[in-house]
Amino acid sequence: MAQNRITKLFDIEYPIIQAGMIWASGWKLASEVSNSGGLGIIGAGSMYPEILQEHIQKCKQATNKPFAVNVPMLYPDLEQIMEIIIKEKVPIVFTSAGNPKTWTAHLKSQGIKVVHVVSSVKFALKAQEAGVDAVVAEGFEAGGHNGREETTTFTLIPMVKAELDIPLIAAGGIGNGAGILAAMVLGADAAQIGTRFVASEEASSHINFKNEVVKAVEGDTKLTLKELAPVRMLKNKFYQDIETLYKSSPSKEELQELLGRARAKKGMFEGDLEEGELEIGQISGLIQDILPAHKIMENLISEFEQAKINVSKL
Ligand SMILES: Cc1cc2nc3c(=O)[nH]c(=O)nc-3n(C[C@H](O)[C@H](O)[C@H](O)COP(=O)(O)O)c2cc1C
Repeated sequence: MAQNRITKLFDIEYPIIQAGMIWASGWKLASEVSNSGGLGIIGAGSMYPEILQEHIQKCKQATNKPFAVNVPMLYPDLEQIMEIIIKEKVPIVFTSAGNPKTWTAHLKSQGIKVVHVVSSVKFALKAQEAGVDAVVAEGFEAGGHNGREETTTFTLIPMVKAELDIPLIAAGGIGNGAGILAAMVLGADAAQIGTRFVASEEASSHINFKNEVVKAVEGDTKLTLKELAPVRMLKNKFYQDIETLYKSSPSKEELQELLGRARAKKGMFEGDLEEGELEIGQISGLIQDILPAHKIMENLISEFEQAKINVSKL
């Protein structure tokens, strides 16, 4: 894999980014991916400020390589989170679920590189306008929270590429090296990978959830709860309860009541496969094993090189 705009921007060896993920990407996963030459990301979205600080400090002890923190901007303790990130000299921040204008200038004035996650061309351009260093364009296939427009990665990447000047990172449905190559052929400079890294030894997710990811086959996930915040999850009992409620044309409040609080923690962290929310992407259907993160990185790189050889024969 050759150096490019993204590897230079982040000072990493490979254009492979392990996605920030609630209840999955703590310091263990992030540091292991960074040590393997990619960019590891700590997912702040499920951490109280003091827990995030601990994860950042442990990550710094475990790797000398660059790593990032993902901050969903819906976070209630946002100011405190950003203060910790600045104080701990985190080199890169990936913001999501909010307006990139709010924090980009301040973070950049502190020497931090800023990347914003979007799911449409319109918001990619808004992020560029806000001064971010790069954009993650995330397609409909992706695990977790997502856009309402259902634009797939295969269509989103070339459309964003046609408009955007700054570096572009593709996300959603990328689970092997051929997927990374495909995203790059469509115009991406790098790939952000979530679902594949949930099924890693270092992910902090509950083993029950990881096993479900391995068991999942094509068609086992669905994007739902569009009226609240669209989210792709496994079709477990909780998902069926949502479907049953939809039959009665529920109000937003009724959906919110069913969702309740801490559903994601219950499913992904505590391993309650029935009542919990199990956020995962469509590409879970391709994943057959739980592997050490460094092995996932090695596989991605060798599959990428093999895919390049295969393509050259076309
Ligand atoms: C379990 C899980 C949790 C996630 N949590 C977050 C999050 O906290 N913040 C965020 O910006 N994206 C989150 N995402 C989306 C990922 O960052 C990433 O963009 C996505 O997983 C890429 O698609 P893939 O799952 O097909 O690889 C999450 C995804 C998963 C699977």
